[in-house]
Amino acid sequence: MALRDIITLPDPKLRLVSKPIERFDADLSRLIDDMFETMYDAPGVGLAAIQLAEPIRLLVVDAAPKDGPSEPLALINPEILWSSDERRVYEEGCLSIPEYYEEVERPASVRVKYVDRAGKPQEQLAEGLLSTVLQHEIDHLNGVLFIDYLSKLKRDRVIKKFVKIARRDDGKGRL
Ligand code: NI
Repeated sequence: MALRDIITLPDPKLRLVSKPIERFDADLSRLIDDMFETMYDAPGVGLAAIQLAEPIRLLVVDAAPKDGPSEPLALINPEILWSSDERRVYEEGCLSIPEYYEEVERPASVRVKYVDRAGKPQEQLAEGLLSTVLQHEIDHLNGVLFIDYLSKLKRDRVIKKFVKIARRDDGKGRL
């Protein structure tokens, strides 16, 4: 296993639509392990492959309560089958938009189908934090970020801030 770099705003790769996975091989298995290690290290509760610059439809989540046992879940080619009419507001963050948090309203529950790392089709009814995390991560596979749900004013402000940080970091160590 290896820790991998997480790409951040304004990296244009975050806007790519990720491709379905067709091959279940050792490379995929290694990437899943790296994603779990990188997510737990961050620490975060979800990570999409595109956040490691891999544009494929894969995500890992662990929405277990902090004091409980971990509940690692790797989802390949996930799709939302059903969303509840009931909605829920949750303060979201994103490892690709570090240290920025805002409330986002989404369906309270979703039913998701996916393929697990053994290649077996699965379905999961998700509520609470897991529901929010799955919707946030599946958005990543479609190039959508949680800031897209905010007002244009707020979104432009955070993008501007990260463009500035990226410029400053590029210039680091240069004379
Ligand atoms: Ni995110």
